[in-house]
Amino acid sequence: MTEDYARFQYVVKQKTGLDLTLYKEKQMKRRLQNFYERYQFQSFMEFFEEGLSRDDKLLHQFLDRVTINVSEFYRNKERWLEFEREIVPILKEQHLPLSIWSAACSTGEEPYTLSMVFHKQLQANDYHIFATDLDPTVLEAAKVGQYSERSLRSLHEREKQFGFHERNRVFEVKGQFKQPITFERHNLLQDRYPDYVDLIVCRNVLIYMTDIAKQQIITQFSATLKPGGFLFVGSTEQLFSPEKYGLENYKSFIYRKKTSQ
Ligand SMILES: C[S@@+](CC[C@H](N)C(=O)[O-])C[C@H]1O[C@@H](n2cnc3c(N)ncnc32)[C@H](O)[C@@H]1O
Repeated sequence: MTEDYARFQYVVKQKTGLDLTLYKEKQMKRRLQNFYERYQFQSFMEFFEEGLSRDDKLLHQFLDRVTINVSEFYRNKERWLEFEREIVPILKEQHLPLSIWSAACSTGEEPYTLSMVFHKQLQANDYHIFATDLDPTVLEAAKVGQYSERSLRSLHEREKQFGFHERNRVFEVKGQFKQPITFERHNLLQDRYPDYVDLIVCRNVLIYMTDIAKQQIITQFSATLKPGGFLFVGSTEQLFSPEKYGLENYKSFIYRKKTSQ
């Protein structure tokens, strides 16, 4: 690792609390370098000293860049359909209300997808979704719940009508799907995890992290899950040796916490 980037990691952690050492280095460096070169900076430390430490707007853009917050409704739809068919009926038989955590939820498409999926099979009071992300800006957008057509591109017309009110090509999530969700800031690499949840959905964020960071997160997810609870990860985020964490591979990209260890 270059000394320039190592110093940059240190000063960014001091200023923002964000620990870049836990994200895959090659990818992150490339992404940030493209970003600072657009602003004519020559090195990471120049970018910090002349840019980030002086200009709050640039600091925000930088954080957005680090956190990569693209999302969409029913992302990888096949997986969601399988989840709806095979996992929700099992969860329904557990003690209600269900406690669901959408971790690294970005602008809200994922927790709202969950809300729509559970609404079809349960009463509104029978589940609560705790939706969290590191980035306060995406959480503000998530709370508003308004989306362009692009975020809904995997949905059929009747699914759009089921989930949204549309006005001038802006799609707003209906109130009944917002009501079971609480949005809150949470850093997976730093903050305390919730207790005792039935389902954790954490998709398309582990892929950006180092193996050590991933292991820490999966260990904590497993401790957070009730026995028999499920962990649903992204379609490129298969766990190696899930049994190390007391989890079993239940379906592709869906793991279940063992009831006895
Ligand atoms: C690509 S989005 C994934 C959104 C959604 N889960 C999905 O699959 O469509 C990645 C999200 O992870 C969040 N993130 C990155 N590092 C994080 C951390 N340490 N703790 C919590 N969230 C984090 C980012 O802010 C971003 O919103």
